Amino acid sequence: MSATDGDIGDLLRLRRDYADLVARLEANQVRFQRLARSIFRVQEDERRRLARDLHDGLGQNLTALRHQLMLADDEVGGEVAMRLAEAVALCDRTLAEMRGLSRLLRPQVLDDLGLLPALRWLARTLGGPAGLTVDVDADEVPAFDEDTRTLVFRLAQEALTNTVRHANARHAGFRLSVTGGHLRFDAWDDGCGFDPMAALEAAGTGTSTGLATMRERVALHGGTLRFVSRSGAGTQVRLDVPLPARPVTLDE
Ligand SMILES: Nc1ncnc2c1ncn2[C@@H]1O[C@H](COP(=O)(O)OP(=O)(O)OP(=O)(O)O)[C@@H](O)[C@H]1O
Ligand SMILES: [Mg+2]
Repeated sequence: MSATDGDIGDLLRLRRDYADLVARLEANQVRFQRLARSIFRVQEDERRRLARDLHDGLGQNLTALRHQLMLADDEVGGEVAMRLAEAVALCDRTLAEMRGLSRLLRPQVLDDLGLLPALRWLARTLGGPAGLTVDVDADEVPAFDEDTRTLVFRLAQEALTNTVRHANARHAGFRLSVTGGHLRFDAWDDGCGFDPMAALEAAGTGTSTGLATMRERVALHGGTLRFVSRSGAGTQVRLDVPLPARPVTLDE
């Protein structure tokens, strides 16, 4: 049985419809990625605002309160002076905690000095108190656009937080390199290791969000994220992502 002109016409129409559908799906996917990325951007803007409010508003009030307590402390003696000195010490601790929180929300160094200084700051701030040595290695890298800076910084923050919380490691590190238009970032530790597949499956039940959120962020940038880890053999989180040819703006 041979195909009639009608059959061929139907087939051609079907092929056109199919190609149309694929093109529409691809366009929707691009639109979805842009929207999701803009949600992460809005979240970062909000964090930046909160960090500033904490630092400038609450921070200044606490500093003024501390000053008043010190003045009162000079005027009294005995038991009251001791209580005031304790109150000053509490102010100092609260100020230090608040500054730390404000910086982790959105470290100013990331916007002012760039990714590498921010990674070094993160290594000191998170690694130091946990007794962890954290190396930061990097080839000569260009100044990254804001989205890329934020992506790598948030990955590094979650990876190192996981190392501190779960790995029981002594040594950890970040490694950053750029080849052509491509960025590679590794976060590693020499800790107890884990089963990444099982952890990602567990994330599906809502018990944890860290690894799953890392994956989502990376997918929105068209990159890949690999977890290489085994019980007793440490962990390596590897990001590979193409760099945008030019900075992407919100209204695109
Ligand atoms: N570097 C690591 N070393 C050892 N175990 C790890 C490491 N990173 C992750 N894990 C394991 O994978 C699990 C999932 O990590 P994930 O970051 O998703 O969740 P979480 O850290 O438990 O909670 P959160 O949602 O606050 O991040 C952890 O509970 C831990 O058991
Ligand atoms: Mg985590």
